[in-house]
Amino acid sequence: MRIGFSTVILSLVAATSVIAAPAPITEAPPVHLSQLEQRGWVMDRLKPLFSKAVNSLQCGACVAALSGAKSIAYLNKNWVLDAANGICREMKMMDADVCSGIVYSQGPVLIQAALQANLLSGDGKMICFQALGICPSPGISSGTVSFPKPKPTNAKAPTPSGKLVDVMHLSDWHVDAHYVPGSEAECTKPLCCRNYAGQSKPPKRAASTWGDYKCDAPKKLGIDMLKYASTISHPEFSIITGDIP
Ligand SMILES: *[C@@H]1O[C@H](CO)[C@@H](O)[C@H](O)[C@H]1NC(C)=O
Repeated sequence: MRIGFSTVILSLVAATSVIAAPAPITEAPPVHLSQLEQRGWVMDRLKPLFSKAVNSLQCGACVAALSGAKSIAYLNKNWVLDAANGICREMKMMDADVCSGIVYSQGPVLIQAALQANLLSGDGKMICFQALGICPSPGISSGTVSFPKPKPTNAKAPTPSGKLVDVMHLSDWHVDAHYVPGSEAECTKPLCCRNYAGQSKPPKRAASTWGDYKCDAPKKLGIDMLKYASTISHPEFSIITGDIP
């Protein structure tokens, strides 16, 4: 299972109320404030920007939120993450542990991208399209990529030996080391079949030994698949690609 921000945000944000446009952040918090007060000052400005973006799912609101996040990220990246986490929890977009998991693991990457980006000349729309699924696809623009050195003049493909070999290619195999048979398969998180704290028992649907549609693969499935593969072929080598998990 691949969890993108877009999936999570688009599927879990139900509210569509319209909020008046929040003021852009054009200044830094007053220097005479304590660190904690500065954080509060920032939260008061960043949170309306974020909630406008997730409530309206409007491209312009998303770019504005990114711009606000960027100006605050220069001061302290943690404040941006804390504001995003706060909004996610307050709006009950996801379970609290999923909010903090996504914000603090994926957020720093988005912040880094925003810091390198020219948000108002297209990059903002691209980030809001790629990472959050809020802006429409900006389309493909043409460009020139130059190779570090020119193509060799005497390049020759090696002569094939004619010998055929088996290769095993595993892709996106998503074996979940935390899969627990019998745990809740019908959970409120993006990925189920784990022993999360606070789940009511008995489960609505118990995770089976061999897997469930709402879960990644149990370890047993992965191991047995590898055992079986070795009975039907003897690959010269194997490659594993894709997201793992
Ligand atoms: C950034 O904010 C966090 C949380 O408020 C704080 O613990 C940390 O000291 C701040 N870092 C800097 C460099 O100000």
